[in-house]
Amino acid sequence: MIEKDFIPSTYKFEPEQGKVQYTAPSNIALVKYWGKKPNQIPANASVSFTLDECKTITSVGFTKLNKENKDYSFELLFEGKSREDFKPKIELFFMRIEKYLPFLKKYHFAIDTSNSFPHSSGIASSASGMAALALCLMDMEKQMVPGMDPEFFFRKASFLARLGSGSACRSVKGNLVQWGEHNEITGSTNLYGIPYPYEVDEVFKSYQDTILLVHKGQKSVSSTVGHDLMHNHPFAKNRFGQAHENLIRLRSIFAEGNLKDFIEVVESEALTLHAMMMTSIPYFILMKPNTLNIIEKIWEFRRETQNHLCFTLDAGANVHLLYPEDEKNEVNKFIKDELIAYCENGQYICDRIGFGAKKM
Ligand code: PMV
Repeated sequence: MIEKDFIPSTYKFEPEQGKVQYTAPSNIALVKYWGKKPNQIPANASVSFTLDECKTITSVGFTKLNKENKDYSFELLFEGKSREDFKPKIELFFMRIEKYLPFLKKYHFAIDTSNSFPHSSGIASSASGMAALALCLMDMEKQMVPGMDPEFFFRKASFLARLGSGSACRSVKGNLVQWGEHNEITGSTNLYGIPYPYEVDEVFKSYQDTILLVHKGQKSVSSTVGHDLMHNHPFAKNRFGQAHENLIRLRSIFAEGNLKDFIEVVESEALTLHAMMMTSIPYFILMKPNTLNIIEKIWEFRRETQNHLCFTLDAGANVHLLYPEDEKNEVNKFIKDELIAYCENGQYICDRIGFGAKKM
């Protein structure tokens, strides 16, 4: 599909009012997206595990206006409270997607959204948040386009979510999602995320992700700024090439359930992401001393037990612990005995691979 396919022709029917509700999960990238071109086009392809517990629930009430408004008309509740400070982000999102959803200025929207995880805990709330909102708006469009193909519905939802936050396009479907054009991945595109199209061993279908909350405060540098710093970055070209190669490597790793190589790719990707931050100009560090303490402990644990626990990192200090379900008991004991001490207020979130967004 091409961008033009997402521009609708005139709607036959526009409902007077209604309400739609969706829940969308967060996701954690295994091969990281870091660096982008205009219009939220990724500099390299990425792949992620969709999560299950960490999610956003959004409802959108809509009422048709007497005449088309000049500006977007909406109110926003976040966790039950009106949040004026979140509105510019939604306005920017509406501006980017209006071409594809031309009904936006014809309605007043009452958006009510909440997360199952603490806001600004470093868990990608923009991914689940933008995905949930995009799905609600698509649900509205579906009412205006009777008989919409379900495949088109999800693709366009992912396409719209991407325009809100790149990684959000990987939060519509489960359980492994690939985003970004890659010459060796059939159906891959920069426009939206696709369910990973190749064989995936059973071991990955119940993979666990325990998120250790090392630092819950606001990040010192936003992802937007970080992506931008990949322009003119001295290692950008090699980094994008490496991501491309890692996706090729993962194909057989996923098919064979090769956990040893999986660990190598995933941990290397996490550290490379942070290495890019440390080597941009200006340079910055989002890891905290406890991030490194946890990584040391994980390596020690793996050496001693031959377990398959590994880590990945987002653009923040928190650590995602990835491990197979059948190692859950030992890993949970290890977390309680050794790792909780490094978490802010001892907090962590137990999650696992999930199956995508749901209509409520
Ligand atoms: O979706 P954004 O623009 O917030 O970027 C997310 C980037 C990372 O989370 C660091 C990596 C990724 O692929 O999710």
